[in-house]
Amino acid sequence: MTEAFEQAIRTRIKAISDTPEARRQALAQHLTPPEVAELAASLFSDADRALDCLDLGGGTGILSVALLERYGEQVERIDTVELDPTLARVYDEELRERVGGKTILGDALIAGVNGGTRYDRIILNPPYKKMASNDPRQSCLPAHSANLYSAFIMRGVEQLRDGGELVAIVPRSWTNGDYFTPFRRFVLSQCSLDMLHIYGSRDEVFSDTNVLQETMIVRFSKRRQVGKIRVSESVVKGATLVVREYEARDLIVGDKLVVRISPEESTSLGETVESVGLCPSTGKVVDFRSRGYITQEKPKERPSVPLIYVGNFPKGQLQHPLSFGKGQWFCLDDEWATKQVCDPGAYVLVKRFSAKEERRRVVAYPLVVDAPVALENHSSFLHQGRPRRVVPLRSADLAYGLSLWLNSTFIDEWFRGVSGSTQVNAGDIKKMPCPSLDDLESLGQKWSVGMDQKVIDEVCGVLI
Ligand SMILES: C[S@@+](CC[C@H](N)C(=O)[O-])C[C@H]1O[C@@H](n2cnc3c(N)ncnc32)[C@H](O)[C@@H]1O
Repeated sequence: MTEAFEQAIRTRIKAISDTPEARRQALAQHLTPPEVAELAASLFSDADRALDCLDLGGGTGILSVALLERYGEQVERIDTVELDPTLARVYDEELRERVGGKTILGDALIAGVNGGTRYDRIILNPPYKKMASNDPRQSCLPAHSANLYSAFIMRGVEQLRDGGELVAIVPRSWTNGDYFTPFRRFVLSQCSLDMLHIYGSRDEVFSDTNVLQETMIVRFSKRRQVGKIRVSESVVKGATLVVREYEARDLIVGDKLVVRISPEESTSLGETVESVGLCPSTGKVVDFRSRGYITQEKPKERPSVPLIYVGNFPKGQLQHPLSFGKGQWFCLDDEWATKQVCDPGAYVLVKRFSAKEERRRVVAYPLVVDAPVALENHSSFLHQGRPRRVVPLRSADLAYGLSLWLNSTFIDEWFRGVSGSTQVNAGDIKKMPCPSLDDLESLGQKWSVGMDQKVIDEVCGVLI
């Protein structure tokens, strides 16, 4: 390792320890580890002329250092845009003696929009944060963006010269799902997707900055789509295990331009919960509005059904009745009450609210019952009917498989990629990527009580 790189590593570590965690989180400062920076720079192709480069969201400059290591004297200049004045200063100290270029202090989504500068090489590890639909910066972008990271890439693509290349370190969520369709349509209309590098182990890449997301490195270039896309994978940090080439038409599929990692990757991942025929509805019984209908003990004189809360699944499996301070029976005193009831059968409950400190945002439970039940409003439930006509899932295995799938880290990360909220509503569930019902049923056969996260991810992993 060169002296410059060792210096960049020291600077990075110092910046991480000098910056309060809250500020790092606010600006999504997950600084790139050196092995990842080197690998990212190595994805660029060789150049036969001087290069104008851009490092968007430059941080402490480790990606710029990696670019300099990659191209040496060929780098003519590296511009950077950085929002944090402290890091912008660190960047200058780190790089400006070695390479010319502008350090622009400001918002990368706005700064330079009209500058018109074009670059041969753009490198970035963009901030990863949900971007609201009414964020005023949306109007500076060529297409709607669900997340800051996809917005950064679009800003980069706009600033690429013809034939120029952009390498970005990003989560995997852009590759599928409706939220990122406008992003994929824009980027893939301007650029060729040349390469993907994926990490086999999700938590080690950014292990020192608490990033728990599946990370990939992607290279786009400003030209027509190339015929073959290179996909490489490393399981242990830095060690590349597999390199494959696939026909672009096998990886970029459908009118929503879903990007698969391999042709074998389940085609159903181009599908969503809604498109495979599942319908999420919100639990109907709002307990504080229905107090007169709810009792703690099963009433002898009044017809009643079990009232199911997420609290009835203490170990992931239904326990009813259960004492946790909530009335367990819903009385069918009139026609309105009768309409709140779901038929016997299989469903999946999804918690609507989670606390910030909870490990997962998306938490699902299989509900398989042989008698009618009423569902409380703090959960959504999945069935196979329509919003106003509930039809149970076609099998118990489907309920078990679907609950496993929704409890996978893949879904949790996907959700975090598109939503900054701790609330998971029916509208969010509809858009979640989803395997076919047959695949979910096979998955359901692997369900058992109290499966731990690692096992859930292993069994769901084959469908991703
Ligand atoms: C994930 S870090 C990557 C930093 C550095 N490039 C690296 O790889 O280590 C994202 C960087 O973008 C900066 N940033 C966040 N929002 C920004 C914005 N809107 N405009 C410019 N920079 C921003 C952060 O301060 C941080 O330095």
